[in-house]
Amino acid sequence: MKLNQKHRFCIAPMMEWTDRHCRFFHRLLTRRALLYTEMVTTGAVLRGDRARLIGFDPFEHPVAIQLGGSDPRALAECARIAEDFGYDEINLNVGCPSDRVQEGRFGACLMAEPELVGACVAAMRAAVRIRVTVKCRLGVDEQDPEAALDAMTDAVKAAGAATLIVHARKAWLKGLSPRENREIPPLDHARVYRLKAAHPDLDVVLNGGIANLEAAAGHLSHVDGVMMGRAAYQEPWRLLTVDPDLFGTPAPFASAKAAAEAFIPYMEREIAGGTRFYAMARHVLGLFHAVPGARAFRRHLAVEGVKPDAGPDVLRQALARVSESLDTVQTAAA
Ligand SMILES: Cc1cc2nc3c(=O)[nH]c(=O)nc-3n(C[C@H](O)[C@H](O)[C@H](O)COP(=O)(O)O)c2cc1C
Repeated sequence: MKLNQKHRFCIAPMMEWTDRHCRFFHRLLTRRALLYTEMVTTGAVLRGDRARLIGFDPFEHPVAIQLGGSDPRALAECARIAEDFGYDEINLNVGCPSDRVQEGRFGACLMAEPELVGACVAAMRAAVRIRVTVKCRLGVDEQDPEAALDAMTDAVKAAGAATLIVHARKAWLKGLSPRENREIPPLDHARVYRLKAAHPDLDVVLNGGIANLEAAAGHLSHVDGVMMGRAAYQEPWRLLTVDPDLFGTPAPFASAKAAAEAFIPYMEREIAGGTRFYAMARHVLGLFHAVPGARAFRRHLAVEGVKPDAGPDVLRQALARVSESLDTVQTAAA
């Protein structure tokens, strides 16, 4: 049973990557994807420079904020703040395995504490009207991924979470770096398919190892939605066919080049406000694929874009190195 289209295609929360500039750029490539912020901890939201940490441009909608924490009261307070900022969804991180996160007793180690996750979800739900969702793993360490995911699902469902996003691999809390934890534990997409089959009333989103939109479309016959991480960030040209291929609506731009040109007015506004050019331009590096000039584009941006006086002209010059004749929308299917 397909529940709704809100999570049909999501771009994963990624620290250092899916900042507000990245999200604005991704929104130029797809109007329909649901975007996620980087994880932000409750401590940062409560005590940090809020506008800088969680501010965003209205053009990014629909956009979800991902919170890291495990204290129901702090999470409820942060959820309220995020709702006031205008976010469309609050997502709780139950998947990050970094040491820093483990010290704070949140992220993936919460896989071992489904009741606490339920209490966090319930507290956030009581505090806001927007939807509350959870992103988790299959399990951690020696946990049985059948029992661990079932227990987490029961807890978040009982607490009224709208959606469960599952990164379809376990995390090892000791001995693997966060990066290794995204690569070494084997993927088990079938486990997430079974979860959906067992919970037709729960919106289930599959994450992990989705390399292209064809694979995404295949998963969508088993689950309600897919979440793409690294492939979306490193090869953003793929995003230009999300709307036509997965939603049956036109792509926002006829070519990747046109989308990049549309990023320039945003860059100009941001630079006037003190943002460095490369803080934005770095997200565009992978935009061209299999077109003449793609490598020259990347090189020009990476070399000239980091200079202190770099501005949108560097992007214009880089774009001039890319062939006009091949259109990314057409080549993306290849
Ligand atoms: C650089 C980077 C940072 C990440 N940061 C977060 C994060 O803040 N919160 C989170 O839930 N997952 C984070 N992840 C994990 C992704 O959201 C996703 O679960 C993982 O990359 C698997 O999806 P993929 O195979 O499509 O990349 C991060 C991944 C990467 C590559």
